[in-house]
Amino acid sequence: MSQCKNTPKPHYIEYLGIKALKSSHPGVRKLKRQQQGHSAHGNKVWRSSFVLMDYLTTYPPEQSSRVLDIGCGWGLTSLFLAKQYSAQVTGLDIDESVAPFLALQSEINQCEMHFEARSFESLTREELSSYQTIIGTDICFWDEMTTPLFDLLGLALRAGVERIIIADPGRPPFWDLVDRCAQAFGAEVVARRIYEPWKTEKYVLVIEQA
Ligand SMILES: C[S@@+](CC[C@H](N)C(=O)[O-])C[C@H]1O[C@@H](n2cnc3c(N)ncnc32)[C@H](O)[C@@H]1O
Repeated sequence: MSQCKNTPKPHYIEYLGIKALKSSHPGVRKLKRQQQGHSAHGNKVWRSSFVLMDYLTTYPPEQSSRVLDIGCGWGLTSLFLAKQYSAQVTGLDIDESVAPFLALQSEINQCEMHFEARSFESLTREELSSYQTIIGTDICFWDEMTTPLFDLLGLALRAGVERIIIADPGRPPFWDLVDRCAQAFGAEVVARRIYEPWKTEKYVLVIEQA
């Protein structure tokens, strides 16, 4: 008889040394019951996060570098960078209801990041100048987001941010952003496929400056 028969499945997915909460996790279920709902899709960990984590294993940040995660949601990629590369990460999200999910995910991974409930449009050049890298996953999902994101990335580059990396499933607003960033900043885009925890392919927009 199998010894594993009655072993409960964990309520998280383990990937690259990080635990991503599933919606079946008791803590997640409790928080969802307490909340009325989310305003802008920060209601789970999105698959682009896993693809960006995989991409970052090939192109990691310097140890202990300062990273800003725009539209961080539950903060999975940020926590990965904090845990594996000692990055000092700030996650920013317009939806403050993501905060307790991020805190829970931070707790189960035993690593920390700083969170701010605010829009990326509110970032100043001075604030941006303190980061070496900006990351984002699945943050360009409405047509109206392309221009504010394009403006933010331009401001960040002028502020001296060295690298910007945004992963996306490939929605039309993202491709508009790619086109504009390729023309203005010499951005590149690569396809990246992972096979675990699911087989999925996403696109990664990369802008680098010396
Ligand atoms: C599809 S979710 C992706 C969340 C997370 N990056 C992930 O991959 O799991 C998009 C996130 O962007 C946030 N967001 C949308 N507009 C924003 C804005 N203007 N400033 C900051 N965050 C924003 C939403 O609240 C949401 O958490």
